Amino acid sequence: MAVPPEFIEDLRQRIPLSEVIGKRVKLIRKGRRFIGLCPFHSEKTPSFSVVDDDGFYHCFGCGAHGDAISFLRETDGLDFIEAVDRLADMAGIPVPHSTPQDSVKLQQRKATLDILEATACFFQGALRRDEGKAAVRYIRNRGLAADTINTYRLGYAPPGGLRAALAARGFSDADMLAAGVIRKSDRDGSLFDYFRDRVMFPIESQQGKVIAFGARALGNAQPKYLNSGEGPTFSKKKILYGLVQAREGLRRKLPLVVTEGYMDVIAIQRSGTAAAVAPLGTALTEEQIISLWKLHDEPILCFDGDAAGQRAQIRALERILPLLTPGKSARLATMPDGKDPDDVLRESGNDGFLKQVAVARSLVDSLWDALASQRNLRQPESRARFWQEIRGQVRLINNNQVRSAYGDEIESRIAAMRSAGRQQDGMPPFRPMAVCRPRAGMINRHRAVLALCLAHPQLIPGIYEQLLRLESGDASLESLKKAAIDAVIRDPDLDVAALNYHLTEVGLAEQVAELSGEEMRARLGCDPASLSSVDASQQLEEILNLVSGKSGVFSYTAQVPK
Ligand code: UTP
Ligand code: MN
Repeated sequence: MAVPPEFIEDLRQRIPLSEVIGKRVKLIRKGRRFIGLCPFHSEKTPSFSVVDDDGFYHCFGCGAHGDAISFLRETDGLDFIEAVDRLADMAGIPVPHSTPQDSVKLQQRKATLDILEATACFFQGALRRDEGKAAVRYIRNRGLAADTINTYRLGYAPPGGLRAALAARGFSDADMLAAGVIRKSDRDGSLFDYFRDRVMFPIESQQGKVIAFGARALGNAQPKYLNSGEGPTFSKKKILYGLVQAREGLRRKLPLVVTEGYMDVIAIQRSGTAAAVAPLGTALTEEQIISLWKLHDEPILCFDGDAAGQRAQIRALERILPLLTPGKSARLATMPDGKDPDDVLRESGNDGFLKQVAVARSLVDSLWDALASQRNLRQPESRARFWQEIRGQVRLINNNQVRSAYGDEIESRIAAMRSAGRQQDGMPPFRPMAVCRPRAGMINRHRAVLALCLAHPQLIPGIYEQLLRLESGDASLESLKKAAIDAVIRDPDLDVAALNYHLTEVGLAEQVAELSGEEMRARLGCDPASLSSVDASQQLEEILNLVSGKSGVFSYTAQVPK
């Protein structure tokens, strides 16, 4: 749809960019520019700048750059026309629609959205009436409370009655067919409600408009979930279920979890442990990955602990790798023994689920393991095949910097494998280059563990369970440990400085200083910050084994499997 360029220029003149952006981002005036925290990446000091005279924003942190229209498209997920509409609305002037076809299309789109909204209301109403009793029972049995039903606008599609209800509100059969809520029978051409006797999950656009439905059978009717067909307002591959509701959790800095099912999204969101979204019963698409990265730099992809989940994991890796850019990533978590996140939350509670999330693995580890697990690495030719495959995957990364960083990492792992292979038959551990030798005595070992954690916070999620089990008997070490775990679970991206800052904020500055100070380094015989992450990880593991009594020998040369 064409909008005359002069009109867009006119809009730019009328509405200062800072006003558009100010609705989303807290801006502070600094001379002729405004600054604030960048909405396109997570940061703690402002590097996002807006200049009204130019009409452009720019982020010196992540390089995001654009004008009012691109801002609305990126942050609110509007398309071009919708962004122009929004600006025209703010300016209080009508948009000139250039051709008659444009306005017809616009009208059709509006009719479809109106019908979908009315249909959602109809289903919500049916859930409250007598006919919805069984559906309410079903929903309650699945552990959902009234407020969750409202937040996700869950409803019930009765066996019939939608078409008549919509007709009574003045909607035509043609428009209902276009919206996909009724269908025409192939046999006799009669019209029937598409969704019947199912629990209804409205699927919303990023702007919160109902654009489709997912519908679950109450019993064992097939298919288990029936979804709206693709249509003018709905493209499965672009949408993430639960996105509107997830924004709330993201504002509270919760991690972002991507699951396979609708019910998982709702169960996670309700638990308050994370923000959650899901694709609509298909593998993650390119479009969905890009919209995930607009919400979070490192979404955690949760896969069901079954064979299908395993396959989905490999497909997701293959989709994500080509799209990686510096700073954008993902982690992968697999639920245990055939369960999905909804099962885990019900059976093991929030802690049980958080534990699975906390041990989510980095992309590079997941890729390495996914490919390694398909080969018998004791055989040289299979090893070579594995190297060939993993190098092939790395070549698929489009971004030069990320590709070369992955290349370095993979080559060093391959080199470690080869040197270990020469020494012995078996899987290679990474050998530490430098070692921390805490003085004997339990309390010193506890201190050493925490000192290593403070210097390498990215290792905390992987050893979270062991850490929690440790009991040093020292109250100040214990509170430091708990606060550090807490901080890292809330924000797995925390780097050393951010973790220190957080610990200082909660009143643990003294303990931090003690553990990272000169005296501690002398006691350890090394500076934990100078260790590579791989070395630090191995040493943590060894000390943890000692402290928890798994290994009786104080030996740093033992081969510990990675
Ligand atoms: P699952 O079969 O894992 O179901 O499908 P689930 O989400 O755990 O559902 P419950 O807990 O039994 O209610 C995962 C997702 O795949 C899509 C849906 O989006 C579902 O949430 N799906 C599944 C379909 O679209 N159609 C189906 O018939 C089955
Ligand atoms: Mn389920």
